[in-house]
Amino acid sequence: MQDGYKRDINYLRISVTDRCNLRCLYCMPPEGVEMVDHQEILSLEEIYRVVEAGTLVGIRKIRLTGGEPLVRLGLVGLIDRISKLPQIDDIAITTNGLLLKEMGKDLKKAGLRRVNISLDTMRPMLYRKITRIGRLEKAMEGIETALTLGLNPVKINTVVIRGVNSDEVVDFARWTKEAPVHVRFIELMPIGTSSPWAAENFVPAEEIQRVITDKLGLLQEEKNLAGSGPAKYYRLAGAPGTIGFITAMSDHFCAKCNRLRLTANGYLRPCLFSNGEVEIKTALRSGIGTEELAKIIASTVMLKPDRHHMDYGWNDARVMSQIGG
Ligand code: 5AD
Ligand code: SF4
Repeated sequence: MQDGYKRDINYLRISVTDRCNLRCLYCMPPEGVEMVDHQEILSLEEIYRVVEAGTLVGIRKIRLTGGEPLVRLGLVGLIDRISKLPQIDDIAITTNGLLLKEMGKDLKKAGLRRVNISLDTMRPMLYRKITRIGRLEKAMEGIETALTLGLNPVKINTVVIRGVNSDEVVDFARWTKEAPVHVRFIELMPIGTSSPWAAENFVPAEEIQRVITDKLGLLQEEKNLAGSGPAKYYRLAGAPGTIGFITAMSDHFCAKCNRLRLTANGYLRPCLFSNGEVEIKTALRSGIGTEELAKIIASTVMLKPDRHHMDYGWNDARVMSQIGG
């Protein structure tokens, strides 16, 4: 359906859990976020009901995020059910990849088409430092698994942080010449734990692009990548993979926004960057019918703001893993 600014909203992004098996330094405090009581989190059945109602008001694409979606028990079953809804034509996950080696086959069988895998570095020591507890080898095995299974396209999300991994952007770009990976450089956003230091460690996409072009040559614009959301894609000559830029800060893409979010604890969030949310858990638990639920979703879509004003600061106590990155 259309929102108040004539944007077609067809994409629901669902945080299926606020838990994660990593503690990335821009996302979570070292001790992790306070565990939300299990009762507070939507059940898989409740999530399914929201999706089903969403299809009545034009939701066609689903992305499952977290926290880390693969730590949620029963996720494969949820994907299986969602993928059987005839109106849903795209289902994807955003994962850190650590559990893909074990779960990839079952996910694919359940109907998962494609994955976005977060990877900020290809250096083992730095991976440990950024994620605080992760092993690079596990993440790389997950990426290998996704490629082998033909989950396509495999997109890599790389948050660029000055002085941390900013000297690795050329290595990431070079990778796209060797493998069909679609590396997306994401501008650091002042959300959650990164908000005190995001501004001084910010690297604009334009700078990343310049460094890559200087070292590896011209980038050709690429238009036809499945599920192209807010990223702009380019290809190095002859490369099987592509390079994308997500300029959430330097050039916001709010005018093309097609999404609505569902948080793990049952709030519909019209915009990642605004705190206006609509609680639907109570309605879900009081036996609301699917059409009534669809009406709540439709009225939430109408609350979408025209654009974010994150340059004025972030004022939410929650972090990305709770909202759904
Ligand atoms: N800025 C930019 N990207 C972030 N992510 C999490 N927190 C931030 C932040 N502050 C990214 C993760 C992952 C995706 C879900 O969101 O790296 O790729
Ligand atoms: Fe986990 Fe993703 Fe947050 Fe890292 S960025 S701690 S992988 S939810």
